[in-house]
Amino acid sequence: LRCPEKRARMENDMIIFDEKEKIFKIDTENTSYVMGVIDEKYLVHIYYGKKLTGTHLAYLLDMDKEELSEIHINYGEKSSFLDRLPMEYPTSGMGDFRQSCIEVAEDIGKYGVELYYESYEIIDGKPELEGLPSTFGDDVQTLCINLKDDILKLEVELRYSVFAGNDAVMRSAVISNYGDKPLYLDKVLSACVELGYGQNEYITLHGSWARERRIDRQRVGFGYHSVESSRGISSHQEHPFMAVVSEGATQETGDVYAMNFVYSGNFVSFIEKSQFGSQRFAMGINPRGFCWKLGAGEKFAAPEVVMVYSDSGLDKMTSTFHDLYREHLIRKSWVYSKRPVLINNWEGTYFDFDEKKIFDIAKEASKHGIEMLVMDDGWFGKRNDDRTSLGDWFVNEEKLKGGLKKLVDNVNSLGMKFGIWFEPEMISPESELYKKHPDWAVHIEGREPGQVRNQLVLDLSRREVIEYVYESVASILRQANIEYVKWDMNRPFTDIGSSELDADRQGEIMHRHTLAVYELQGRLLKEFPYLLLENCSSGGARFDPGMLYFSPQIWCSDDTDAIERLAIQESTALMYPLSVIGAHVSDCPNHTVGRVTPFKTRGIIAMAGTFGYELDVTKIPEEDRDMIASQVETYKKYCPLIQSGDYYRIASYQNNHYFDCYEIVSKDKKEAIFVFVQVIAQPNMHSIRVKLKGLDNEAKYKINGTVYDADALMNGGFIIKRPWGDFQAELFHIEKIND
Ligand code: GLA
Repeated sequence: LRCPEKRARMENDMIIFDEKEKIFKIDTENTSYVMGVIDEKYLVHIYYGKKLTGTHLAYLLDMDKEELSEIHINYGEKSSFLDRLPMEYPTSGMGDFRQSCIEVAEDIGKYGVELYYESYEIIDGKPELEGLPSTFGDDVQTLCINLKDDILKLEVELRYSVFAGNDAVMRSAVISNYGDKPLYLDKVLSACVELGYGQNEYITLHGSWARERRIDRQRVGFGYHSVESSRGISSHQEHPFMAVVSEGATQETGDVYAMNFVYSGNFVSFIEKSQFGSQRFAMGINPRGFCWKLGAGEKFAAPEVVMVYSDSGLDKMTSTFHDLYREHLIRKSWVYSKRPVLINNWEGTYFDFDEKKIFDIAKEASKHGIEMLVMDDGWFGKRNDDRTSLGDWFVNEEKLKGGLKKLVDNVNSLGMKFGIWFEPEMISPESELYKKHPDWAVHIEGREPGQVRNQLVLDLSRREVIEYVYESVASILRQANIEYVKWDMNRPFTDIGSSELDADRQGEIMHRHTLAVYELQGRLLKEFPYLLLENCSSGGARFDPGMLYFSPQIWCSDDTDAIERLAIQESTALMYPLSVIGAHVSDCPNHTVGRVTPFKTRGIIAMAGTFGYELDVTKIPEEDRDMIASQVETYKKYCPLIQSGDYYRIASYQNNHYFDCYEIVSKDKKEAIFVFVQVIAQPNMHSIRVKLKGLDNEAKYKINGTVYDADALMNGGFIIKRPWGDFQAELFHIEKIND
């Protein structure tokens, strides 16, 4: 298969190599991605954008004939062409002075890397990335292009996969050392694309604890612009997502090039505008603090990047990501199945609970149709506040008298499921575990490690620690009928050192940690295949596609205020389907901002997610409690639509200051819901026209008993009468009329 001639062209090939033009062309339904080989050496990027029909595309490289097409003649001036070549996988130290994708040192010091095209292979299928989560499924083709540096004895296999029916291109790189000496990978990015010229803007997501993923948009000026995490997790602060968009692109118009990383540790993404105006856009593991020793004969897999192009704004980008993640990333058993409506006791009780309080909450909740009780932090060791016991995963029977099984059985007897909280990657200095194994914490010998939330990170580069963590969680799950786990991770890495790893492997700690988390969650799901796993990291500090591969839902933010959630959920839904966004109704005044919002509003906004409650249901006002049953009913009714429909953002109060509006349309366009939230009331204002999206243009739809033409609703709009007061939400159901 390595030879192009040996592979017969398939009828539905999405990937082709045109021998004559020396062109690789990857086609999705609406896009084309094109690369070429020039001077029989360099793999260069030619085009990414709207679908092209033919392969006569090499001419697009002919920007500067004498230098680009006759490199061998100009070899004396190598950097003058390397520094402007649109390299597909740029290297460093040889004359391309822009940002590279790979940097490698030999054991005798640093050397440049120069990769030459070697061969290619087109596969029907998609190889796994060892130890890493990645998209999967049938009807997929993969292009593998091999590049080599024969001085270093280094091979790079670039992988591009496309699924039939989806516009995303999946990218990764697998690095091999085919020499007999170790190599040190100082930098290995996963994907890079040269976006050519013209004015662009870039969108990134920034935040903080309880303020995750706020949309930020800036002009691409000359130089290097990046987002990254070096915290060991994908982080609250910046997100493994970047979209480069044409100037002024909107929800419906303009070019959008986006990358999202299927990885949960340190990342970097950048756009670099060169002296010539070309724009290099890339993503991968953050090289800061990273160095991977690649022994002779070993391979290193760089995690997958999902790359999406839309020629019509952000809405289309969003639907490509949502469909991809639903069809090809989340475990099939959970994607479209109804998740139990849960009640979590965290904001209701914090650490102050015992078995009676938990049972009382469950009992009251069950009367109102809630289906699962989740016992959060504080049930183990001596954990009555956040200063102790992480690592001591044995049940605190002073709190839970009669033990865990009895409590779980009692909750089950109410007809409710039971879920539990863990923070398995951590160790409290005040714990039995730390007394026994102080060296199991990540630390630098001789330095007092800095604590965050009174805790340290366990050194998961050590096999014995991985095994301890696995058994801690699994042995609890084996004790009782526990059907849900909330897996938390509440601090970034500092003092990064391992007492076990060799000196030249200390730069591997954070990547090894991420791989260990993947291994642990993978094993857990194998032993407990029915488990509903929800990832969490001080709210949404590890909300990324890597985690989504294991858990079909992720806690979105510790901020449960409905109005703050509008913004957080808007940005999260840019890439992630609503079915994965953990969202709960909590009590007021809200615990993070002190805001008081109507219970109805809190319910409607939490429905744009996995929907649940996070309060002490025995204590909230009666009129709120009385609304729970009908909220649960409404959620159950619309759950299939929310989980599988196309999501459209219609208005954002982030931009207009006053109101928010979004819509979810079923794939068959037979029904939709849309939500209107008046965030701030305006005096002396009349109705608002909200232009709906995504309906069947020819059809008629009924809203609140009135029939409308779809084209009128989408172009003229639906009239919303302004409600009275701040924070008012309304959910409308739209139904197609059969003619
Ligand atoms: C984190 C989570 C919360 C809660 C607490 C418990 O902050 O995000 O939901 O589980 O930990 O300590």
